[in-house]
Amino acid sequence: MRINERTCIIGTNVVLVPYKDFHVPRYHEWMKSTELQELTASEPLSLEEEYEMQKSWFQDENKCTFIMLDKGKWASSTDEIESMCGDVNLFFNDPDEPSIAEIEIMVAESSSRGKGFGKEALLIMMHYGMDSLKVSRYVAKIGEKNKVSLGLFKKLGFQETSVSKVFQEVTLELEVKGQFQDWLREQMSHLQIVHLNQEDARPRPCSTRDLTAFKRRESTAASRLDLHDQGASLIDWIHLHRSISQLFVSN
Ligand SMILES: CC(C)(COP(=O)(O)OP(=O)(O)OC[C@H]1O[C@@H](n2cnc3c(N)ncnc32)[C@H](O)[C@@H]1OP(=O)(O)O)[C@@H](O)C(=O)NCCC(=O)NCCS
Repeated sequence: MRINERTCIIGTNVVLVPYKDFHVPRYHEWMKSTELQELTASEPLSLEEEYEMQKSWFQDENKCTFIMLDKGKWASSTDEIESMCGDVNLFFNDPDEPSIAEIEIMVAESSSRGKGFGKEALLIMMHYGMDSLKVSRYVAKIGEKNKVSLGLFKKLGFQETSVSKVFQEVTLELEVKGQFQDWLREQMSHLQIVHLNQEDARPRPCSTRDLTAFKRRESTAASRLDLHDQGASLIDWIHLHRSISQLFVSN
């Protein structure tokens, strides 16, 4: 889906950024883990297949994907790739029911689990889906042995609607309406949504000239930064970090 291709959502502890090709190598490393393959019911892919998958998800209007960054790491480093900790996705599987989305979450970095990141990323995505993609019902399919994930979704109000013995999978659903809608809006009222401009949203080749221009820009932006201020400077900050990490990746 291209609608979120320049959308960055800044929460309390996590930041969601669109899944781009420069995220793929790290993502691919994660997905070599047999534990993650099992928990997310995923097949192992080669690096080339992972690039193809990212590209097809990006172009597919029925899939909305974000990479989850650890905001604390991101604030203390300049490296978006190092700060990656998982992903969160929506799948619009039924063309006749465009307001129903399957939601999926993965906190891939084990050191990032149990810190509230999964819960926050899910809430941010549910809020984004509700407000920007007009989702009115979420569906989650979770392995019946995945007690942590089942606990998380149930805590957010999802209810079991069926169990597949064949796939050893539980289906849970949540209607986005009434009190829940109000609660979600209130919980997410602190979110900052930043629309990256074209320059920031695309990796660029890194020449010496680019680097010099970037350093000049970095020092100007850095002098205006106040990381404790949640206001306009955060937007400078997001652009600054984005630019730095992309320069490094494309170098
Ligand atoms: C499942 C997963 C998304 C949870 O994310 P997380 O960041 O670790 O979880 P959070 O810290 O946000 O905790 C949210 C809730 O999950 C449950 N939970 C988290 N860790 C738990 C644990 N070790 N044991 C039991 N429940 C746990 C709790 O209900 C918790 O709520 P609480 O802190 O208010 O009690 C994450 O662990 C994960 O991605 N694991 C690997 C892949 C996976 O299973 N993906 C889901 C596929 S459907």
